[in-house]
Amino acid sequence: MKHPLETNRLQLEEITPDHLELFFKLHSCPEVDEFNTMGIPTSTETTAEILKPALDDQLNETRSKYCWAVYRKSDGVFIGEAGFSNSGPKYKCGGMHYLLMPEQWGQGYATEIAKGLIEFGFMELNLHRIEAGVATENLASIRVMEKAGMQREGRRRKILPIRGEWVDNYHYAILESDPRN
Ligand SMILES: CC(C)(COP(=O)(O)OP(=O)(O)OC[C@H]1O[C@@H](n2cnc3c(N)ncnc32)[C@H](O)[C@@H]1OP(=O)(O)O)[C@@H](O)C(=O)NCCC(=O)NCCS
Repeated sequence: MKHPLETNRLQLEEITPDHLELFFKLHSCPEVDEFNTMGIPTSTETTAEILKPALDDQLNETRSKYCWAVYRKSDGVFIGEAGFSNSGPKYKCGGMHYLLMPEQWGQGYATEIAKGLIEFGFMELNLHRIEAGVATENLASIRVMEKAGMQREGRRRKILPIRGEWVDNYHYAILESDPRN
């Protein structure tokens, strides 16, 4: 079953196959790809493969993987992607990510999404911990995580394959008991 989410300025709709072109466009932006391991897709089929696990998961009664298309409420413009994974009842741990169209950067949208995903994980999924990773040079995303109340827990050396190089990653997390900004 699909699970829409809403924040102050944004509407998050779980993807359908109709979102393929929008996501292909988003993943094809070199600025979006800069710190990402996904790489620029060679065709919409590559994007379809990336989206398939989240689309398939919508059929499961117990959900573990969500991918939303993010729209600005005021004018209905597509601004990007948000994702969330749930480890299940033993570890009660979530993972999240977000990617925005470059023309939408710098307006606080990613922070609003990150806070919304954290609330979703703790309040609706009853998780204990939510994690995210970020390339150590991705200063904008690091700032987003810290504004959302996540804490840096460590550095994983040369773990991200990005355009033929091994790149370091910071591991961030927030616990259900941590203060939320
Ligand atoms: C990372 C990303 C999601 C940020 O989105 P956004 O909507 O611009 O983020 P916000 O506006 O909520 O916050 C960005 C913060 O980073 C700061 N920032 C931006 N670029 C920066 C830089 N080069 N150095 C330091 N801080 C920077 C902004 O000033 C802002 O902080 P502030 O509110 O204290 O001024 C967006 O740049 C993006 O989609 N990047 C490509 C995909 C990506 O890297 N996703 C994250 C994967 S971990």
